Amino acid sequence: MGSAVLLLASSLFLVGLCSAGSDAPRGVAVGFVFDPQAKCEPACEHAGVCIRNNTCFCSRGYEGETCQYANCYPKCKNGGACLRPGKCRCPPGFGGRYCHKVTCDGGCWNGGECTAVNGVAKCICPSSWTGSKCQEAICPQGCRNGGICVAPGICSCPEGWLGGACHTAVCTQPCLNGGKCISPNKCRCRPPYSGPRCEERKKSH
Ligand SMILES: *[C@@H]1O[C@H](CO)[C@@H](O)[C@H](O)[C@H]1NC(C)=O
Repeated sequence: MGSAVLLLASSLFLVGLCSAGSDAPRGVAVGFVFDPQAKCEPACEHAGVCIRNNTCFCSRGYEGETCQYANCYPKCKNGGACLRPGKCRCPPGFGGRYCHKVTCDGGCWNGGECTAVNGVAKCICPSSWTGSKCQEAICPQGCRNGGICVAPGICSCPEGWLGGACHTAVCTQPCLNGGKCISPNKCRCRPPYSGPRCEERKKSH
């Protein structure tokens, strides 16, 4: 009903404008719809004019019974609220004039793409990266013994370990007599050898 009245008021206002150039007294058409004694309770907001009892004629950019609502065209998207005409307040994760742009806080790294998933901004990561910003590389082989995945498939290994998954121990002095380096500088010896480098042969009793 409010909008129907608004439409009527604005068309009559146009009639008033059009007759301005004729001999007719100015403001007649407007006076027909505008009641100077009109009372609007609650009062019209945002410079709206009370044209009849409890009927506001809203100024541009506002609507509602008392012109309490700002309107934004295009409408605020993604749950944004119209603060004042043409100005949207966007929910977290959205930006731009109409909240039409998805913004991922801190951005998306390593080729990740910021996309709205069920109304929430998220980084969609390429297959070898993960994390909220695609900041974590994925090492499918795993990084063992305290190694850290620093790039897709690349482990940074602590000292004493080598290999794609940091799975190979390093013995600075090689294990002898078929012994195996099982952790940094630690050999597992084959019988009957022993010693730090499996260099000693046990005496048989
Ligand atoms: C508007 O309201 C006032 C009092 O609230 C009343 O005296 C007046 O007659 C009303 N005007 C119209 C056109 O209904």
